Amino acid sequence: MTAAETPLLSVRNLVKRYPLGGGLFSSDRRVVHAVEDVSFDIARGETFGLVGESGSGKSTISRVVTRLEDPTSGEIRLEGTEIGSLSERALRPYRSRAQMIFQDPYSSLDPRMKAGAIIEEPMVVQGGFDRSQRARRVAELLDMVGLPASARDRYPNEFSGGQRQRIGIARAIALNPRLVVADEPVSALDVSIQAQVVNLLEDLQAELGLSYLFIAHDLAVVRHIAHRVAVLYLGRVMEIASSSQLYAAPRHPYTRALMEAAPLPDPVAEASRESAGIEGEIPSAVTPPPGCVFSTRCPLASAECRAAVPPLVEVEPGHRVACIKVAPGAAAPA
Ligand SMILES: Nc1ncnc2c1ncn2[C@@H]1O[C@H](COP(=O)(O)OP(=O)(O)O)[C@@H](O)[C@H]1O
Ligand SMILES: [Mg+2]
Repeated sequence: MTAAETPLLSVRNLVKRYPLGGGLFSSDRRVVHAVEDVSFDIARGETFGLVGESGSGKSTISRVVTRLEDPTSGEIRLEGTEIGSLSERALRPYRSRAQMIFQDPYSSLDPRMKAGAIIEEPMVVQGGFDRSQRARRVAELLDMVGLPASARDRYPNEFSGGQRQRIGIARAIALNPRLVVADEPVSALDVSIQAQVVNLLEDLQAELGLSYLFIAHDLAVVRHIAHRVAVLYLGRVMEIASSSQLYAAPRHPYTRALMEAAPLPDPVAEASRESAGIEGEIPSAVTPPPGCVFSTRCPLASAECRAAVPPLVEVEPGHRVACIKVAPGAAAPA
């Protein structure tokens, strides 16, 4: 495989579990199944959307693939190098290649630091830049994210939410990453500001050739920005497809329910529609349902759905679905 064909990020069978009990000697052996057997690739220059309700494991995936946390098991390959098991020291050269934009630009920026110091911090941590190089890079980054040069001497509380997220973006791209993991980057912003920030991310991608792992809790947000989308439920991938395939013909009952739950663009239709979305609550990630984790809320579920975890089956090139009802796979449908 040539370098051009190697995915920028390749995640295989990723598992992340958190112990519920306190310390090492706690007798509580229960675990939170935050992420279970998740696999996906992100190509160079691609935007990969990751969508799921709150608690489905999105932020956990973002923290593990950027190695802010260790995986429980599975592989994380960044430009072909397995980084999932690297020690902190061995990881150092790879840190700059994958950077993160956080959901909440209010809590993710240190209120005591000026914007310039926030943006240059990754350069300070990495080392190798003198003061004037850092100052020049900060000026360049402010310009790239559409903030005035004077922003460098102001504190986070002097900026609006959208401007703060621009500061977070400037910091994320300061070290020329290849991958930017954006964990619900516009969820905390006013709807009127969201498109501006999404447009900025798209412009930066075109300019810098970035790949994005773009996380959102509803399908509408990633529809236009993502080339491909994975739908996550209770730590597992339910469906994965190109955006055009997914939005034209969603296959998994959960994806279909999420689409029905999305607000309709026409407010009159939205106000008068009968059902919205999915019955019941998301089960606990401590005791996920056996077999298909969506089976407890699925209109199509039967006993066989609870017997085994359904494999992701390819239903058309590039479109995979984990549901034995709509994608029975090798076994012929009864
Ligand atoms: N540090 C942690 N310790 C224990 N449980 C956690 C921790 N972080 C996340 N979880 C649990 O893992 C699951 C997935 O959480 P998260 O990745 O934050 O989901 P999302 O970002 O999709 O809302 C949830 O059940 C959450 O409570
Ligand atoms: Mg989250």
